Amino acid sequence: DGISDRDTDVDPLPSSPIVLGFSQLGSESDWRVANTESIKGAAQEAGVELKFENAESSQQKQFEAVRSFIQQKVDVIAIAPVIQSGWEPILKEAKAAGIPVIISDRSIDVQDSSLYVTFIGADFYEEGRKAGKYFLDKTRDMAGPIGIAELKGTEGSSPSIERGKGFRDTIEGHSDFVFLESDFADFTFEKGKETMRRFLKERGKEIKVLFAHNDDMALGAIEAIEEYGLKPGKDIVIISVDGTRKALEMLALGKINLVVECNPLLGPNLIQAATEIIQGRTLPKRIVPAESVFTEQMAEREVHNRKY
Ligand code: AHR
Repeated sequence: DGISDRDTDVDPLPSSPIVLGFSQLGSESDWRVANTESIKGAAQEAGVELKFENAESSQQKQFEAVRSFIQQKVDVIAIAPVIQSGWEPILKEAKAAGIPVIISDRSIDVQDSSLYVTFIGADFYEEGRKAGKYFLDKTRDMAGPIGIAELKGTEGSSPSIERGKGFRDTIEGHSDFVFLESDFADFTFEKGKETMRRFLKERGKEIKVLFAHNDDMALGAIEAIEEYGLKPGKDIVIISVDGTRKALEMLALGKINLVVECNPLLGPNLIQAATEIIQGRTLPKRIVPAESVFTEQMAEREVHNRKY
């Protein structure tokens, strides 16, 4: 009848399992642990053979992992890149070997977008904007100046760059808002706590709002704030990103005021993309998971649904 069926145009799957080499950037946060589990689980369910390497936050180690995947002649390589820059040379090596690459979670900065097939990951800029919109609502009736502290993630990483930008772009233009402190705390609980301790030592009660680029740093900051003798969520408004169970518990207790969701469960999308690449299908250049925000009112209900 002249109408071609999409499924008849694709290659059959090979009889041996697809081999996917995945370079995970590290295990710095609960989000990351959930992300790793999601990918391992989805691979197992789909019968995809996963070669997994944890780079412990080192880009160099990620390069080594990719090189070893090339040597092992895997079918597809996936990378969750620790920082945004510096990927061009290694991606060219994968391209020269004829191995397709999927970028997962964090975006990269490359001139030649043909170096990867698709990028599966959240819209971090939009997450920063959601945090900024809440900040505007929450501080509407507060007397100025409103001192802001910011716990940024890993320097040069796309979530840190884009969340910071989205937040600033949304709140800019108000002379009452003052960034008192802003520093990198590597998305970890310990660094979040240590950095917030320093912020408080330097600025104390001048800090009215904390924007933490992830939950682990926010949880560390909560301990620092309590140690200092202030009430998190009351004396200092706390806005965080991710939506881990521990953060939703704090939200339910009123110690965090808003959690912007960042979805770590990218495994099914990633494994599907790898499979479709092998079948010769054309994928969209960008795949964005659905995400929402969690308010204090929602926390009680949501916390029970949380698996990570
Ligand atoms: O790239 C996603 C971010 O990385 C998550 O927000 C954070 O928790 C993780 O470490």
